[in-house]
Amino acid sequence: MSECPVTRFDASIAAVAFTGVDIVPLFFERLFERYPEQRDNFQRPAATQGAMVNDMIALLAQFASGSPTARATLHDCLDRHQSYGPIAIEHFTEAWNILLKTCEVVAGGDWSTCFSQLWSNLVAQDGLISR
Ligand code: HEM
Repeated sequence: MSECPVTRFDASIAAVAFTGVDIVPLFFERLFERYPEQRDNFQRPAATQGAMVNDMIALLAQFASGSPTARATLHDCLDRHQSYGPIAIEHFTEAWNILLKTCEVVAGGDWSTCFSQLWSNLVAQDGLISR
């Protein structure tokens, strides 16, 4: 299969947005299933959970568009998270994989393997999470 172009990132988000489904509770259901110990670290869930999902998508969009500030934004985010409790660096990659799974399920037939490939490539890209 040929490489899925990064310009398809917006289309992947649109496939989810058009459903009108709020993915935030669905994502956190899966995140807490994977990391139950993190539930209590969300002390202000109404304020932070929507913001977190938005930022996760916005950051991937920055990487997809090749933004020169994407890496600095990610590192700011990792630094902020140090005050939220012990969060292993691998959790970040896994959280994006969980978000990908959530989007796939919500978008259903409007999702494509091209989108999954694109997201996986972005998340796995050399040193996305490394410091
Ligand atoms: C994958 C990239 C991630 C992004 C972009 C992200 C983004 C955010 C944002 C925007 C907030 C709101 C407060 C702030 O602006 O700092 C937040 C809070 C938080 N995030 Fe993340 N996050 C990510 C991954 C994770 C992971 C993997 C965990 C743990 C498994 C986690 C746990 C938390 C906790 C505990 C809070 C504080 C919640 C509260 O005070 O209610 N985040 N995150």
